[in-house]
Amino acid sequence: MRISVIGCGYLGAVHATCMAELGHEVVGIDVDENKVAELAAARAPFFEPGLEALLKKVQTTGRLTFTTDMSAAKGSSVHFICVGTPQKKGENGADMSYVDAATRTLLPYLSADDIVVGKSTVPVGTAARLHEVVQSAEPSAELLWNPEFLREGHAVSDTLQPDRLVYGVLSGAEDHPAVHLLDQVYAAPLETGTPRLVMDLPTAELVKTAANSFLATKISFINAMAELCDAAGADVTLLADAIGMDSRIGRQFLNAGIGFGGGCLPKDIRAFMARAGELGADQALAFLREVDSINMRRRVRVVELTRELCGGSLLGQRITVLGAAFKPESDDVRDSPALSIAAQLQLQGAVVTVTDPEALANAARRFPDLNYVNSTDSALQRADAVLLLTEWQDYRDLDPYVTAALVSTPRILDGRNVLNSTKWRTAGWKYRGLGRP
Ligand code: UGA
Repeated sequence: MRISVIGCGYLGAVHATCMAELGHEVVGIDVDENKVAELAAARAPFFEPGLEALLKKVQTTGRLTFTTDMSAAKGSSVHFICVGTPQKKGENGADMSYVDAATRTLLPYLSADDIVVGKSTVPVGTAARLHEVVQSAEPSAELLWNPEFLREGHAVSDTLQPDRLVYGVLSGAEDHPAVHLLDQVYAAPLETGTPRLVMDLPTAELVKTAANSFLATKISFINAMAELCDAAGADVTLLADAIGMDSRIGRQFLNAGIGFGGGCLPKDIRAFMARAGELGADQALAFLREVDSINMRRRVRVVELTRELCGGSLLGQRITVLGAAFKPESDDVRDSPALSIAAQLQLQGAVVTVTDPEALANAARRFPDLNYVNSTDSALQRADAVLLLTEWQDYRDLDPYVTAALVSTPRILDGRNVLNSTKWRTAGWKYRGLGRP
């Protein structure tokens, strides 16, 4: 099939590449010339495991092209909208200008019976509104909502083998021709048994925001338990293991630490609350405010614990922060708790050095005043305290004896509770976890 993918960021670049891998002829369209040039040269413009190799592989087939020219969408029968919906500046709501602009710019290139398929995370009600916009330009075209659930760091496999496919259609009816067209796009995952759910447009939009809100709630729940464990002298990692063995609860997303960040969870719960307010249902999501504040409290807590670890004052303390990305296997620093803690420590008088295997360039753009060092060993030299804030495997694997020889004082704060505390203490380190005695 001929497919256009509009927006080539973390979502669209992966989607375009994976759709070409599934055998379709794909054009990726983005307004950012640099991004398009990189992708056209089969270079991933961001770090995502497996993406560059797949880009190179599919580009040799000639099935994948990239351009800034929207007219290239003409001739495709399926158009995916994959642009961002960031938080509005100074407000909780989502900035819909990119989705609106992408849809509007596409309109002149729609042909009869095309489908426009939204994948971006949007406030409920957007799809119905855009459906009218699409049909005003091309009455036989249909707009569907097909939310994306990929995780950064696992984006390629999440796209090629998704947990489930959700299709929102205006009628909610499974026998709509647009549903059959989208089934052809996803023929490969459907053949291998991926469940596919067809529903109305608002439900499909809500599936995505509800899923992210649930994940955020799960993380904040365990972080609230970590606060309690700290107060009671208990261990939140053992608590999570034990409650997670109940299959109704499950162990995933119960890792207590410095909290969630990234370009999705924080802004999605805020946009969800804002939208609920507009719909007169703000009480229903009042708990998400608490989820957000538990999460933001983690960052303050780590700054306080670091002060304690350093003997009561941060002034002039040389602190090494391991990790800048919002999570491992990503170079994304949007709302990264690690970076926000690093910046706060620096503001409070510490001398902060940040290292990360992939995210330093992005981090330096966002917080240019922090000191960045590429090599872990150099970053650790003469540290008065070490903070493990993004759990890259390299940091999990650090040897406490070798590391002790590099630093000035062996103190470590394990912001993700991933180190073996006994091993580090035995090697002479003053170890602090979060919610661990
Ligand atoms: C999230 C969702 O997991 C995806 O399903 C969704 O498609 C995506 O948002 C999106 O809306 O596009 P992502 O932002 O890539 O994916 O990252 P997650 O793996 O969800 O992690 C989010 C944050 O939670 C990270 O900062 C991570 O370190 C933190 N986290 C995760 C914890 O603090 N504890 C945990 O147990 C798990």
